[in-house]
Amino acid sequence: MNATNNDLDSLERDLLARAEAAGDEASLETLRVEALGKQGSISALMRNLGQMSPDERKTYGAALNVLKDKVSEAILTKKAALAEAALERQLQAEAVDVTLPPIKPRIGAIHPVSQVMEELAAIFGEMGFAVEEGPDIETDFNNFTALNFPPNHPARETHDTFFLDAKGEDGARKVLRTHTSPVQVRTMLKQKPPIRMVCMGRTFRKDSDATHTPMFHQIEGLVIDETTSMADLKGVLIAAIKAFFEVDDVRLRFRPHHFPFTEPSAEVDVGCDRSGGQIKIGAGNDWLEILGSGMVHPNVLKNCGIDPDKYQGYAFGMGIDRLAMLKYGMPDLRAFFDADTRWLKHYGFSPYLLPGLAQGIG
Ligand code: DAH
Repeated sequence: MNATNNDLDSLERDLLARAEAAGDEASLETLRVEALGKQGSISALMRNLGQMSPDERKTYGAALNVLKDKVSEAILTKKAALAEAALERQLQAEAVDVTLPPIKPRIGAIHPVSQVMEELAAIFGEMGFAVEEGPDIETDFNNFTALNFPPNHPARETHDTFFLDAKGEDGARKVLRTHTSPVQVRTMLKQKPPIRMVCMGRTFRKDSDATHTPMFHQIEGLVIDETTSMADLKGVLIAAIKAFFEVDDVRLRFRPHHFPFTEPSAEVDVGCDRSGGQIKIGAGNDWLEILGSGMVHPNVLKNCGIDPDKYQGYAFGMGIDRLAMLKYGMPDLRAFFDADTRWLKHYGFSPYLLPGLAQGIG
């Protein structure tokens, strides 16, 4: 009996040591089969119980059961320890150092015109303006007639219009839009007041020198409501120009002007300094014309199905390319459209930094 117990003690030491030493799940499984499996060492001892006296069987059987429990527990404990160690290794291997600088994949640059459009959308969006769109090819009605340009009036010629062969429903030749103002018409025809919108896009005129290209970009603004005034127009433009140029002491000068679609009309100049051979917005005693604006002409409202006795509005239009040149110090407009990647690399913007009023405009 003693000899048998000694055998059990050494078997226990052996099995527990093997469990402790197991380096992976596979060796633990081998151990389990060799000790507890049907052909295993403990099971073999169990089978001997039959030949023992009832007393022997009782003590020896109990000892065997204790051994069995100890061994299976040792195997399970080791298994859990191995799993935990494996997880720890995996976490170590997959750890990311978030303090490393990001790798910037080279995916090109945002064109200054697109950048300025994003900036303007952020500024006017923040003020409650919706962004509308219209096509580059317009009807004569939307580009001129609805905007109160009289038929055959010389004002149509001042726009150096590109006329297409294709005709619209009115029988008049279609045009490459000469300004973004037709989007005012489109918006008023499809939407009831109150209206508060901006539109940005391509415009076309037969013109080409250092400050004019046959294709250029404009932003248009329109507000229609029951009570709107020149004072509202002024407030909105001052806030927008301050935000855009990121200067607080911007001065604006409203000069009387004529546009067929506004009455009264004003051209707006921004205060600048030209002393250093470069135009600087803000300080200084000079002026630079940057936009056209006014109160929407009652005829335009009528042409767009809006009652001018109930509603009034203001509108404004600005050259986007000019704004970009002024803000980012780019001297030649023609370079904007040369598709020269060296120019774009120099003047372009990171695709990762979207303009917004919170994080900064531009
Ligand atoms: N459409 C004008 C142009 O291209 C600019 C303009 C002036 C737009 C006055 C307006 C406005 O909306 O009210 O010369």
